Amino acid sequence: MPDESAVLHAFQARLGRAPAVIARAPGRINLIGEHTDYNDGFVLPMTIDRATYVAAAPRTDDQVRVISLDFDGDYTFRLGDWHGEAHPHWTRYPRGVMWLLAEKGYTLTGADLVIGSDLPIGAGVSSSASVEMAVLEMLLALLHVDTYSQAEKALMGVEVEHRFIGMPCGVMDQMTSAAGDAGHALLIDCRTLETQLVSVPDSAAVVVMDTAKKRGLVDSEYGLRRRQCEEAARLLGVRALRDVTVADLPAVLPRLEPVIQKRVRHVVTENDRTLQAVDALRSGDLARAGALFNASHASLRDDYEVSCRELDVIVELAQAQPGCYGARMSGGGFGGCAVALVDRARVADFIAAVAPAYQAQTGLQPDLYAVSPSPGSGVRRLS
Ligand code: GLA
Repeated sequence: MPDESAVLHAFQARLGRAPAVIARAPGRINLIGEHTDYNDGFVLPMTIDRATYVAAAPRTDDQVRVISLDFDGDYTFRLGDWHGEAHPHWTRYPRGVMWLLAEKGYTLTGADLVIGSDLPIGAGVSSSASVEMAVLEMLLALLHVDTYSQAEKALMGVEVEHRFIGMPCGVMDQMTSAAGDAGHALLIDCRTLETQLVSVPDSAAVVVMDTAKKRGLVDSEYGLRRRQCEEAARLLGVRALRDVTVADLPAVLPRLEPVIQKRVRHVVTENDRTLQAVDALRSGDLARAGALFNASHASLRDDYEVSCRELDVIVELAQAQPGCYGARMSGGGFGGCAVALVDRARVADFIAAVAPAYQAQTGLQPDLYAVSPSPGSGVRRLS
């Protein structure tokens, strides 16, 4: 998997010149607070120590050449030719970010780009948000624009998703990639985009558990969940479900139809669990944080109905291991990743036990790895 030096090396080797800038944007794993971001709620994600890198240099013509080390692609298009079925699918994120900047009135110049990532692609650790943030950092550097905050950059990434890609995502993935911090998880208030740093106690490791089950249904079911939440907020006369508390639930739920009751119960209790998990981590109470992880998974499985067999299997195996404080699915659901909080001294045993047991039950080969938080997105000038 290409890292920064591989991307720099490939630029020189393939294009026969040196890049002017190199941008980096990390992937993320969400610790807790799932499907709460588009309800103006709270999330507690963490950047991971894997990222997307984009090396670039301006050209003197109006062409953009994109070389992808991950997709083994090399494709050139003309500035302004953003849309259209003829473009390869893997170029859509760079095209989308350029489209947005052009729409905002920036005059882009032609450029050569090499993109590479040591993040697993499409595996639930936000490779797409990291491509968006890295390309955006790179383009703003080529334009000599440094007036945007990390939150504003994240919102631009979200705008690309909504208006160019057609994915009605929330702000968590882009915000984490842009504003993440080495050494901390990030509590994000998705209404105000205020963040607070939260440390995970050193004695615990965050383990990503990639089920190797490709995310199915995610686009259609994601949009449906989001619409159900917005409709519930409208019926209840609140701006977003964030404005409903756990104490309100007994009065509120009977006003909704059964499926919507489950959706609302998940979102409201998940917001509460997220804030409780922040308290638990800050006071070093890993058992309580883990119990909240487990409750989050049950709520996503039973009330929000976004889990799947593979996620349930890996989460249950994880929860049964000695030294595991708690585990839950992470991200949109229907495949992708789960996350576990594990006693650091027992991580190797944990992985050695969960991986083969999962493979025996599902026939899929999972990928389990401990992660640590790395800095949020940024860019470096090389010349
Ligand atoms: C996806 C979306 C995020 C968030 C999660 C669920 O990762 O991109 O905005 O909604 O699902 O928590």
